[in-house]
Amino acid sequence: MPSTRTAALAAVLSSAASVVAAFTSPAVTSSATSKKSTTSIYSTVDPSVVTKKEYQDICGVDFDDRSMQDRLRKTSYLYPKHVEVIEDFEPLVNQMVDDILLETGEKAWQPQDYLPDLAADDWLQQTKDLREAAEGIPDEVFVVLVGDMVTEEALPTYQTLLNTFEGCDDPIGTTDSAWAKWSRGWTSEENRHGDLLNKYLYLTGKTDMRAIEVTIQHLITSGFNPGARKDPYRGFLYTSFQERATKVSHGNVGKVAKDYGAKDLQRICAKIAGDEGRHEKAYQSFCTEILKRDPDGLLMEFGDMMRGQIVMPAELMTDGKDAQLYENFSAVAQRLGVYTAIDYAEIIQHLVDHWKLGELTGLSPEAEKEQEYICRLPTRYKKLAERSMNKKKDDVVELNSFSWIFDRKA
Ligand SMILES: *[C@@H]1O[C@H](CO)[C@@H](O)[C@H](O)[C@H]1NC(C)=O
Ligand SMILES: [Fe+2]
Ligand SMILES: [Fe+2]
Repeated sequence: MPSTRTAALAAVLSSAASVVAAFTSPAVTSSATSKKSTTSIYSTVDPSVVTKKEYQDICGVDFDDRSMQDRLRKTSYLYPKHVEVIEDFEPLVNQMVDDILLETGEKAWQPQDYLPDLAADDWLQQTKDLREAAEGIPDEVFVVLVGDMVTEEALPTYQTLLNTFEGCDDPIGTTDSAWAKWSRGWTSEENRHGDLLNKYLYLTGKTDMRAIEVTIQHLITSGFNPGARKDPYRGFLYTSFQERATKVSHGNVGKVAKDYGAKDLQRICAKIAGDEGRHEKAYQSFCTEILKRDPDGLLMEFGDMMRGQIVMPAELMTDGKDAQLYENFSAVAQRLGVYTAIDYAEIIQHLVDHWKLGELTGLSPEAEKEQEYICRLPTRYKKLAERSMNKKKDDVVELNSFSWIFDRKA
């Protein structure tokens, strides 16, 4: 069975290569990848002893950065025009990556800056201080914090999605385009959020970490569909909304934490909210650039997306016990005023104002209809939100138990 043997050999070669790569310093790997298109084989075989044909017989045809982009361009875009538009402002994206939006390396904040240093002489005191402050935080705040942390911890899902947006993807994993750099840089910043909240919660000793980890694993397994359909326009509309929503939510948890005297948690939430704020600005400016080039196109997608609700990234969360975990978590968030239907309406209002959608002129008749529809939405949503929140005020608050806090009620 020659084909099986070839496959087995290729598997051995590639796993050997990845082991080597795992022990190679990042600087070495990145300079190697930028110079050569086929790095993997050099880790195991001396390139001077194999021919290109021998290599391709074992490993198949290899793509480098350029050839992959070229083939993608020629073959498989669903939205070639949208890709053309976002590529047109790639220089601006590059500038954002470098100067404004992303802090990297030593300069960047890291979760450890906001946590007890367990390698310090007074690690025990630092940890005791954290736990003492956490004693003052009620269970319902922990439920909201856990829900937010679980949402952040499903980052693999969001990076996967970002890479489905045509034209801003990272087809080989180290692609040198501004969009691919954005995608990796954004992920590296977001990665801090789940890390920090997870470690904080672990140290408090107030939550059932295993139940939380079960929820995270379920959520990543279930995935999430924001309705972007691989379209970068829809993708950036979604992220423009969502980053603001997370900014609001983390910011409000921080305020609640302050009310209960947990200054450390307040600082943590404020730091994370700050990141969300910078990301929000970036995604909204991407849409501003699209609007300059293709206002009809963006309005058509925005209108279509707003006819459904903007779904939240963690809507498929489950702990394997509570079939309505997401709804029950959201109810607590709404009750605490951390993220409410009013916030939803206000975010749409912000987008309409920020992009000056009402002032756009020279639109196609269809886009004009969408413009009118979108501009009226915030007021309509706000009315509905107020009505439903007023009704809720009169309801008796029904507490639910959460596995995250050892089945206590909140
Ligand atoms: C979640 O909420 C629903 C509806 O209020 C309720 O039926 C269910 O029992 C709740 N789950 C838990 C675990 O309390
Ligand atoms: Fe985040
Ligand atoms: Fe974010």
